[in-house]
Amino acid sequence: MKRFNVSVLPGDGIGPEIVSEAVRVLKAVGARHGAEFGLREDAVGGASIDLNGVPLTGDVLKRALESDAVLLGAVGGPKWEGLDYPVRPERALLALRKELGLFANLRPARVYKVLVGASTLKPEVVEGVDIMVVRELTGGLYFGTPKGVERLPDGTERGVNTMVYTTPEIERIARVGFEVAMKRSKRLCSVDKANVLETTELWRRVVTEVGKGYPDVELSHMYVDNCAMQLIRNPRQFDVIVTENTFGDILSDEASMLTGSIGMLPSASLGSSKKRAMYEPIHGSAPDIAGKGVANPIATILSVAMMLRYSFDMEPAAVEIENAVEAVLNKGYRTPDIYSAGTTKVGCGEMGDAVLKEIAG
Ligand code: IPM
Ligand code: MG
Repeated sequence: MKRFNVSVLPGDGIGPEIVSEAVRVLKAVGARHGAEFGLREDAVGGASIDLNGVPLTGDVLKRALESDAVLLGAVGGPKWEGLDYPVRPERALLALRKELGLFANLRPARVYKVLVGASTLKPEVVEGVDIMVVRELTGGLYFGTPKGVERLPDGTERGVNTMVYTTPEIERIARVGFEVAMKRSKRLCSVDKANVLETTELWRRVVTEVGKGYPDVELSHMYVDNCAMQLIRNPRQFDVIVTENTFGDILSDEASMLTGSIGMLPSASLGSSKKRAMYEPIHGSAPDIAGKGVANPIATILSVAMMLRYSFDMEPAAVEIENAVEAVLNKGYRTPDIYSAGTTKVGCGEMGDAVLKEIAG
């Protein structure tokens, strides 16, 4: 029996509901594939602010660092919006990413056949879309200094954030992009704003250089504004996209809508050591529907599949979850975000039940 320790951080809003479904799936699949999970649950984000006054305590961070993987729900909500930036719920997420060294964020956006009609775009545009966004996660605007807001002598204020990347930071995320592309259709599109931003001009040069080591991968470059447009004009042209932190944040939300709902997109945040990884849905805490039992747990359940694949080398178990999700969708089960006439509307727990039933065969 293999044993892995997973740090479980449900967070805020719908976080606890969706994480509890994902944990049930993790346990069930583990049992079938000879793995046992030591699960340690801790508060982060707003939940931790209420409990400890800070979004992430040193103890919770330490346990995350010591675990084999982290499963996170979502953080944030209106209750904590007025707080200063350094103590906002989102800080927990950013600190975890930074402290765990999770520079590579994989965000797959795949359109399921039966959900083609759930997208706001035309079926013929989204059919067959299968994109992997590789988002740089510990650099760029999110972390660059100087940052902050200062008051000027004339009484006005000045806000600043800095988009900064060094050659090694670009090289390592580019390598992830190429490696992912090698395992898929060997096409990589690097997204930048090299016509305006010097940082991303460097990005383009370095990615091109790294590409020389991957002669089998067809590398293209695209400006981010064009990419935002192309993603809804003709999304099937993309396979793997590699891009900097902020662009990746925006483009992955956009890509999610091709699939019908942001409630469908999982993610894996990886570092250079296999022992450090965090898995979370790409969506937020959805405070408007929190506690109502209607949230879509699929993004978190699919994040568990990514955990099994990337952290625990349990590919068959990962595929089992992915197949179960697809089977459940094929059977017509839908949470409200992906509901359409003629299908069966279910809540968060029922969706979890349906996936578990499929796994049990
Ligand atoms: C995401 C989220 C986060 C981000 C927020 C909650 C800090 O939008 O994971 O995409 O901006 O990275
Ligand atoms: Mg985002």
